[in-house]
Amino acid sequence: MININLEGCSSFVNPAQFEEYTRKALAAFDTLASEQGAGNDFLGWKHLPSETLDPSCGKAEKGYPVPATPAGLLEECEKVKELWKAKGVDLVIVIGIGGSYLGARCAIEALSHNFSKLLAKKDNPDVVFAGNNLSEEYVAELMDLAAERNTACVVISKSGTTTEPAVVFRLVKEFIEKNYKDASERIVAVTDAARGALKTLSTQEGYKTFVVPDNVGGRFSVLTPVGLIPIALAGFNIREMLEGAREMENELSKRCGCNPAVQYAAMRNLLYSEYGKKIEIMVSYNPKFQYLAEWWKQLYGESEGKDGKGIFPASVNNTADLHSMGQFIQEGDRVMFETVVNIRKSNREVIIGSDPQNLDQLNFLAGKNVEHCNAMAQLGTRLAHIDGGVPQIEISVERINERTLGELFYFFEFACGVSAYTLGVNPFNQPGVEAYKKNMFALLDKPGYEEASKAIRERLA
Ligand code: PA5
Repeated sequence: MININLEGCSSFVNPAQFEEYTRKALAAFDTLASEQGAGNDFLGWKHLPSETLDPSCGKAEKGYPVPATPAGLLEECEKVKELWKAKGVDLVIVIGIGGSYLGARCAIEALSHNFSKLLAKKDNPDVVFAGNNLSEEYVAELMDLAAERNTACVVISKSGTTTEPAVVFRLVKEFIEKNYKDASERIVAVTDAARGALKTLSTQEGYKTFVVPDNVGGRFSVLTPVGLIPIALAGFNIREMLEGAREMENELSKRCGCNPAVQYAAMRNLLYSEYGKKIEIMVSYNPKFQYLAEWWKQLYGESEGKDGKGIFPASVNNTADLHSMGQFIQEGDRVMFETVVNIRKSNREVIIGSDPQNLDQLNFLAGKNVEHCNAMAQLGTRLAHIDGGVPQIEISVERINERTLGELFYFFEFACGVSAYTLGVNPFNQPGVEAYKKNMFALLDKPGYEEASKAIRERLA
């Protein structure tokens, strides 16, 4: 179970102020719990774990909102896995961007062997991601890979119209159609139940489709088919992940100052509003958590960064980044605090040996495991950064596995809702992401953008 430690902030904040911000966070908790706040038509994520594991939990009969996830989702995921296994598929291209990409990538990176793509023995297909950029080289090289492998594709887009995944899907679809007679069985779409170009195309072509619930926004969708399908196809236990999330769903529903989501929301808002800490750095000491930070950055950046407010979410992966960003964090402008995701136990053990020559003078470490060195680097950094004026929040999990990832996903989502309401913004919209799209469409001469196109060309002349 997740544990939060705020000790690393105690020398920076006034306890009475923390109490005041806890009261504010509890009021925000009430807004989220009552489902009466801004963006309340996007709260389907709140009960996803319990409803997906037990779709007949009787909520509809009791007058609660209808489950966002259809019954049988886990079984349907399993069927796709079996079908593609029977076809010998060894490469799955997952196409999507933003909330339709980062959750799956986060889980797959966290749960995979660090060198899975290079290992000879594989029990599951390699999963690669595309449609999250418009690099021509990336797409061309993806095709090089697809040509060497037995390929299938999952295309994910709630709107069904996002440019980056749509462009790449057009190319991947063409490739699959050219190379496989059973093309329509090699494409799975995850999209809106009724609307959008991807839905229309899927119906026309007979693709297997999964639904992104209407009441779940992209960055809160990792526990819908958006995240669950790619994670299952990569060979991981999504039921276990949902169990971990369900445990947090129960835990975080308790209204108290000791609720870890309330504590996290209270402390980060206090640091931001009263102490000028405008940047939050998510810190991890395991490369497998690099994409946890990428997922978290979107979740908090899009949910809070609006109306001229918001904590800028950044990340470092240590100990690598202690040799690059460490200097700034230790001695640069004191505008940041850190949120360390601490993993209490390693899944593997490697003991450092003794060397008769001891030329590297490391025999003092002989008999110790590598994780011990990592833990001491983490502790040493914690003390140094606190001494250097960087408050530290610590979120601990037992070890990296499906269950703890489920816990982390739900924890950060719930805490994000509480935190954004504490800040006074709507956590569930993202009006700012439209600005670049309008300019891009105008510059690409998309029909319907003629006026914008003229205006932008005059501006650039
Ligand atoms: O959180 C969000 O809403 C965005 O990041 C979207 O997920 C992203 O833009 C992709 O949208 P779509 O799934 O409609 O292609």
